[in-house]
Amino acid sequence: MADITNIVILTGAGVSAESGIDTFRDAGGLWEQHRVEDVATPEGFARDPQLVQRFYDARRAAVQKAAPNPAHEALARLDQQWGGDLLIVTQNVDDLHERAGARRVLHMHGELLSALCPMCDSRHRWTGPLIGRPECPTCEARSLRPDVVWFGEMPYQLERIHAALRNADLFVSIGTSGAVYPAAGFVRDARELGVHTLELNLERSEGSHWFHAARQGAAGQLVPEWVAEMLGR
Ligand code: NAD
Ligand code: APR
Repeated sequence: MADITNIVILTGAGVSAESGIDTFRDAGGLWEQHRVEDVATPEGFARDPQLVQRFYDARRAAVQKAAPNPAHEALARLDQQWGGDLLIVTQNVDDLHERAGARRVLHMHGELLSALCPMCDSRHRWTGPLIGRPECPTCEARSLRPDVVWFGEMPYQLERIHAALRNADLFVSIGTSGAVYPAAGFVRDARELGVHTLELNLERSEGSHWFHAARQGAAGQLVPEWVAEMLGR
């Protein structure tokens, strides 16, 4: 990997699966347990905010009981030891990348451990439940909601992500089904920019055919192997 200096890594729910965090579209996943329309759209939140708050309170509690797995730990090692630019763009709302020690992490779908006040657009670290729309510490409105991007809302920091792709030599996608845009389109953006692309996923995804190379297997196995290759070990 001598000619690789700048790397963009996209992670999805599959990278947290071995930490016991449910994915969305695998058998038994979140979208089999809940209707997306009810718990992951602004309309669902307007219709029944308590249902939505309970859904995210349960996911927040599950994340706090979970631990980073070897995939998170390997990516943190790469982040700490890689001399070039590196950005981990995650669709995940858990904090397992950070708890493993990664620093250059961008949450494009928000974070479970953050609460958003739609009245004053402030964000607050939040580890407890959000049921009952707690008071915003900044504007005191009883308005706090999960700081998570729902269907129909714009993902965060897309311009920063595209700038990183324009600067990248390698784009690696780990543990995502390639079902949801704009994340699912990053591999095509990368290819149009002449960036080498690699997919590491449990099985072939909806986007596998767009990648120069695709490896199938569990992230807990594939990611440490790939990081060892990148660090020359
Ligand atoms: P989208 O057009 O990116 O999503 C298309 C895909 O999302 C569909 O192929 C399906 O897989 C799924 N999807 C969308 N609406 C659905 C529904 N009503 N029922 C079942 N599946 C559905 O959706 P979008 O509106 O452009 O989403 C904007 C952004 O919000 C996306 O990046 C998305 O990933 C994100 N998001 C985050 C969460 C979360 O819980 N963090 C939930 C939903 C969406
Ligand atoms: N190792 C590697 N990959 C895995 C593992 C594992 N142990 N377990 C599952 N996977 C793969 C599955 O094969 C699947 O391709 O991870 C992917 C998980 O796909 P999804 O459940 O669709 O999750 P994700 O791609 O992150 O969903 C994208 O959709 O609902 C929205 O905003 C939500 O961020 C989410 C987005």
